[in-house]
Amino acid sequence: MQILQDKKIVLGISGGIAAYKTPELVRRLKDQGADIRVVMTEGAKAFITPLTLQAISGNAVADSLLDTQAELAMGHIELAKWADLIIIAPATADVIARIAVGMANDLLTTLCLATSAPIALAPAMNQQMWHALATQANVKTLNERGYQIWGPGSGEQACGDIGLGRMLEVNELVTLSSDFFADKYLQGQHWVITAGPTREAIDPVRYISNHSSGKMGYAIAHAALRAGAKVTLISGPVTINAPVGCQLISVNSAEEMHQQALKIAPECTTFVACAAVADYRVANIATQKIKKTNDAMKLELVKNHDIVADVANLHDKPFMIGFAAETQNIEDYARGKLMRKNLDLIAANDVAKSGQGFNSDNNALVLYSAIDKTEIPLANKQIIAQKLVSLINQHYLAKQS
Ligand code: PMT
Repeated sequence: MQILQDKKIVLGISGGIAAYKTPELVRRLKDQGADIRVVMTEGAKAFITPLTLQAISGNAVADSLLDTQAELAMGHIELAKWADLIIIAPATADVIARIAVGMANDLLTTLCLATSAPIALAPAMNQQMWHALATQANVKTLNERGYQIWGPGSGEQACGDIGLGRMLEVNELVTLSSDFFADKYLQGQHWVITAGPTREAIDPVRYISNHSSGKMGYAIAHAALRAGAKVTLISGPVTINAPVGCQLISVNSAEEMHQQALKIAPECTTFVACAAVADYRVANIATQKIKKTNDAMKLELVKNHDIVADVANLHDKPFMIGFAAETQNIEDYARGKLMRKNLDLIAANDVAKSGQGFNSDNNALVLYSAIDKTEIPLANKQIIAQKLVSLINQHYLAKQS
């Protein structure tokens, strides 16, 4: 069953340029099974017509508090009671301010006062307006009152400015909506996840690295967030976006990842080492670009710290999960790492098989503990991550009891 099946969502649209994206948002939420009612402010109608949203949502659009016809049918109180979730996207600085002070001077702000449903705001405004002290104070107030704040994203804005203030993309808002309704079984836990490759510099322009794309680690971060955990992602250089809502710590080298991991690990409940960390680094990094003067060259390499093993040796170690990327003798090697690195669990993947492992959208894992093993068959990394996170939690809870 789709996670938004039969979920009743009111989409409130206020008057920002990002309103042009809302028909697509309605369509994608409906694809996931949601029933959508649209409420528009007067400003929103300057950017997109109610007729468009009525056609796409399949329901009449509400835009006036004083509409006698609308109040005969699904009036504002009924709408407020009907909703499982109210999403305001785009949420302008103006609508955020009006909600924060409890105004009820149009249908949308009145709904916010009249509902007991959770409310999510997807801010969208010029970066200067987003950073304005008044906006920040309003957002903080609403956050403290339990409003979900989804975004904003960063990038080029309609006005030409660059910075924070873009409404999140439609796919991100749909993901956040379905995550919102997911079972929050990791509430209260803090997961730290390493992901991606590391880069070991040779000189200012060259480095040693590997084919990790970060997809597996990022999928685990998303699955843990969706299940309600606080998530810190320590990531090597990748080209994918971190899931909205996690704390991202970007690093380059194994030694930087080691430093960050040891700093944050004492605060977490669960540590997942999914990064493909370089085992060695160059002993003497050249300060200038190395010239091709010789036919051959030798690089002296020295061993990097073993990040996951060092975290597992902390006095108050978190629940520890490592990965094993193997091409042969998978069970033996994985179990060897489980013991040697002092881990609670290890997820082994066969990286010799095509269509899974490094830089693929799919993977297959076998999760080993000291006493048992569980297979997670080939699937998309998002699905693998959800199964893995749930299994890790079962082992974690068993260890606590
Ligand atoms: O990023 P993707 O393209 O999605 O690919 C996913 C993946 C194949 C990278 C992932 O599933 C995976 O297997 N990650 C671990 C890769 C790896 O380095 O495996 P390993 O067997 O060499 O290391 C064993 C464990 O020790 C791992 O948890 C690793 O993070 C950790 N390690 C290794 C060396 C080191 N110096 N520090 C570490 O913490």
